[in-house]
This record gives sequence, C-alpha cells and structure tokens, in this order.
Amino acid sequence: MFDFQPDPAQPKPELYRDLVDAARALTADEPDGVANMANLAALIWQFVPRLNWAGFYRMVDGALVLGPFQGKPACIRIAPGQGVCGAAAASGQTQLVPDVHAFPGHIACDGASQSELVVPVFRNGAVIAVIDLDSPELNRFDTEDAAGIEALAEAIAAVI
Ligand code: SME
Repeated sequence: MFDFQPDPAQPKPELYRDLVDAARALTADEPDGVANMANLAALIWQFVPRLNWAGFYRMVDGALVLGPFQGKPACIRIAPGQGVCGAAAASGQTQLVPDVHAFPGHIACDGASQSELVVPVFRNGAVIAVIDLDSPELNRFDTEDAAGIEALAEAIAAVI
C-alpha cells in the first residue's frame, strides 16, 4: 500500500517537493513506463488540488498520443503544434495558460477546463511526452506550479 498524505495547505514549493519525492519512490524499481505513468497521474491527482484532468501525452511517431491519466476520457491524438499540448511539444516550452478560451487552437477535451499547464518531458534532448494539467478554475496555475511540474518532469523522464 502507498500512503502518501499531501497537505493541500502547504506552500506550493513544499507540496511539489513532496510530490517529486513520492514520484521517485513510486517509480524507483519499476521499469514499465505505462505502470509508472499510471501511478504518476494518480499521484498528481492526489497532490495537486482543483484539477479536472491530469495525465500524459506521449510522442509516438511524431504525434502526441494519449497516455495514462485521471479525469474524463480525452482526445487520443494531437498533431504537432496543435492545441496547448502540441505547442508545448513543438516548442519544448512549458505552456501556462490562464484562460484556455483565449489560447488559439486550444483543444477542448473536457468542457469544464478553464486553465491549463502543459510541461514537456525531455530525454536525450528530445521531447518524449508532455504532462498536462487542466483546471475548472480560470488562472489556476502560476509559475510555482510550472516549476513544480517541471521538476517532476525532470525526475521521471528516465522511467516513463
Ligand atoms: N486541452 C489540450 C488537449 C488535451 S486535454 O486538455 C486533456 C490541448 O489544447 O492541447
């Protein structure tokens, strides 16, 4: 049994430090990337409050393909450059979107999503996946959330 007990009242840097520690512990001895992404999506869901979707899109033959996640069923394939996820994958830059309706080309998988954070995961200099967080609140994510998920992306790049 894994009994992680995040405290949502913690300052964000501490919360994300605990999330990264938990992610390392969960994936340490497991070589299966799907199993690890599944547990990592569950861990993000447990640690990060006020989300309606959290999970992975993986780079497969040049396009993003849905990976393990928590939330409602979502779009399966995203072409390079399309939507917030495609922009993160194509540019290699974190996308912090306070209002998804103002983002050109945003792909509405869940109508409840109002703001979004997408962080690329790199291995050997190439984007191998993105971590996507959606919130039903406008302006839900800030630079501390971005830094926390970037730290997570770096910590798990070798095990997904
Ligand atoms: N909104 C994303 C698509 C993925 S869903 O949010 C799960 C986008 O615009 O890339």
